[in-house]
Amino acid sequence: MKVLLLGATGNLGSRILPALLTHGHTVTAYVRSAQKLQSLLPEAVFRRITIVQGDATDVSAIKEAILSSKCDAVVTAAGVAAMAPWAKSDLPKIFRAILEAVRQAGSERGRPYRFWCLGGTGVLYYPGTQSMLSSYMPVFLEHRQNVALLRNLPPGSVDWSMLCPGNMTPESSDFSVPTKTSQGKLIAQAASPPSWHHLWVRFIPLIGRSIEMAINFGRYDTTLEQNAELIAADLEEGHDSRFVGTTVGIISGAQ
Ligand SMILES: NC(=O)c1ccc[n+]([C@@H]2O[C@H](COP(=O)([O-])OP(=O)(O)OC[C@H]3O[C@@H](n4cnc5c(N)ncnc54)[C@H](OP(=O)(O)O)[C@@H]3O)[C@@H](O)[C@H]2O)c1
Repeated sequence: MKVLLLGATGNLGSRILPALLTHGHTVTAYVRSAQKLQSLLPEAVFRRITIVQGDATDVSAIKEAILSSKCDAVVTAAGVAAMAPWAKSDLPKIFRAILEAVRQAGSERGRPYRFWCLGGTGVLYYPGTQSMLSSYMPVFLEHRQNVALLRNLPPGSVDWSMLCPGNMTPESSDFSVPTKTSQGKLIAQAASPPSWHHLWVRFIPLIGRSIEMAINFGRYDTTLEQNAELIAADLEEGHDSRFVGTTVGIISGAQ
């Protein structure tokens, strides 16, 4: 698949880029600084990609990059959510612009694009309910408005998936191709975290579910490379992916 990647200079994006190449995708990276990307990547990898310079808040520039690269899919790891509920980051502005560009480009070509983006565990549902986990632990709330934008899209306008990891750590800083992860594949499921441990503490009034969440949270630590691999592998399924139109919870298969 031809893929336009935003956020390629970030922690996750710099792992997604080689993972995409490993899976046989063709990559155009949309970055603010080609120089910064070049300094991160081995020369042999840098030579295999096309670069477009631009800002991720610029709807028309992103749309132009999507259309001119003739990509079939857009992946974004651009911007990072503020942790505290009162803090603000550029992520909502970036996310809104990218999604609007993907929607408009799809409408112009007459077919929706496959779109992978990032959320966090907090926008997944507490298992068996329709309440987001961030209702019980209000951190990284900016992802919630991004999910709302996705769910309010006109039907059939964007074939989106939102990966919702917990804390991600690097396995290595080797961005050569083929990429490898030593931690094994992730187990993924739609809408809520897989393999959730329900505990008796959840019956404690008011704070039970929050305590249960805090105990579960460390189990959802994964590596950046595992998440990059999941997106790159899923794009091979194209528009038939089981994750089209949903948030995606993950846990390390090594558990
Ligand atoms: N890291 C984690 O443990 C974790 C866990 C759960 C969810 N997430 C989510 O995963 C996503 C990626 O996280 P990350 O750790 O990879 O973030 P990161 O390392 O901070 O990377 C952010 C990327 O966004 C780019 N960017 C920021 N503003 C931009 C703009 N205006 N135009 C173009 N590019 C822009 C940055 O480019 P420059 O290099 O030009 O600044 C960089 O490539 C975030 O949405 C985060 O909330 C992360």
